[in-house]
Amino acid sequence: MTHVAVIGSQWGDEGKGKVVDWLSERAEVIVRFQGGHNAGHTLVVDGVTYKLSLLPSGVVRPNKLSIIGNGVVIDPHALFNEIERVSAQGLHITPENLMIADNAALILPVHQHMDGIGEKLRGASKIGTTNRGIGPAYEDKIGRRAIRVCDLGEPEVLASKVDSLLAYHAVMMDYAELPPINKAELLDGLRSISARLLSHARPVWRVLRQASMDRKHILFEGAQGTMLDIDHGTYPFVTSSNTIAGCAATGSGMGVGALNYVLGITKAYTTRVGSGPFPTELTDDIGKRLGERGHEFGTVTGRARRCGWFDAVMVRQAVHIGGLNGIALTKLDVLDGLDELRICVGYRLGDRTLDYFPAGQNAQAHVEPIYETIEGWSDTTHGCRTWKDLPAAAIKYIRRIEELIECPVAMLSTSPKREDTILVRDPFLG
Ligand code: IMP
Repeated sequence: MTHVAVIGSQWGDEGKGKVVDWLSERAEVIVRFQGGHNAGHTLVVDGVTYKLSLLPSGVVRPNKLSIIGNGVVIDPHALFNEIERVSAQGLHITPENLMIADNAALILPVHQHMDGIGEKLRGASKIGTTNRGIGPAYEDKIGRRAIRVCDLGEPEVLASKVDSLLAYHAVMMDYAELPPINKAELLDGLRSISARLLSHARPVWRVLRQASMDRKHILFEGAQGTMLDIDHGTYPFVTSSNTIAGCAATGSGMGVGALNYVLGITKAYTTRVGSGPFPTELTDDIGKRLGERGHEFGTVTGRARRCGWFDAVMVRQAVHIGGLNGIALTKLDVLDGLDELRICVGYRLGDRTLDYFPAGQNAQAHVEPIYETIEGWSDTTHGCRTWKDLPAAAIKYIRRIEELIECPVAMLSTSPKREDTILVRDPFLG
């Protein structure tokens, strides 16, 4: 058996959906371990498009166990809306095929208010969050105020925790001149979903241990990307969870040695949504062309993504921090037809040259990319299924990326279709 983690190695939106779907066909158990409904994974299975936010990708296939781990923050109303939506598409979600960690923290309506207030207070330096309440829910978790799934089964504990939580947030609600959250309404809302949510609740660490003992393949499905990691990303322009593979263990309750293979999904160029530093960003016609050809609009918010050249320094950092064993390189075809391509191989900061992305906010905003120029290709790579179908210049681009990021390409994706994939190494074969 093999346990594989799939994570994003840039700023998210690397095309995880297709790769995760491909891998989830081989896995018996699929686990989300961080983030919440800020994520957006698009899967196309048998011609049907599924847009998932909180549900693990395993739900689109029969006979898979999907797990939402303790590291995820769960908005129960968003979860049930998503279940309703995919059920209307013919999927069957039951407490037997969707299990939710009983110790996971909930996102409540107050968190969405706090997300909005936080952004307003940040003014011009706002993060550009997805406004789903993700950050404030994690703040309450770390602040030891969160309402957890298991609290729904203990009404007295729930009522007392809701009191403390509302008292804490009342200060900010008052400051923002918003009416106080009504406790009775909040409790009624929670009671209305509690039986249904509790029917899915399990000590998932035990379920995972059993699955591992039963020699099942487990896929850990990351959301967002390394540069949005709360510790290792472009702080404060990040999400509020650890997005790297280390979180697969803490966010699900498995031992640190559980992972046999970490696959980093990597776009052949770079994109980001929301604010924050982006050294290789292109605000010219080439950036526009990448956005148009790559359909770079957010799955969750619909916002246009910023586009730029491939940043090998940043991806190498993601490889080292995340312990990546291989990458899945996606959207190579978006680069078809460009005369030449650029790859960032270092940064200039004042009179210094850096071979890593620094931590300081000013430094991150002011590094200038040092580029290497590579010949482009005029033939198409769209839909290529073997190496020999690829133009020689495209292969050269891929090989140079592997060299610079110090990590091999395990899979190459050449279109959104699952068959349009060149497999070098199956992560489940170790
Ligand atoms: P939050 O996760 O809603 O707090 O947003 C924080 C930052 O992470 C913002 O810049 C978002 O655009 C970004 N972000 C959150 N989720 C995703 C994702 O799934 N893909 C890409 N960016 C994301």
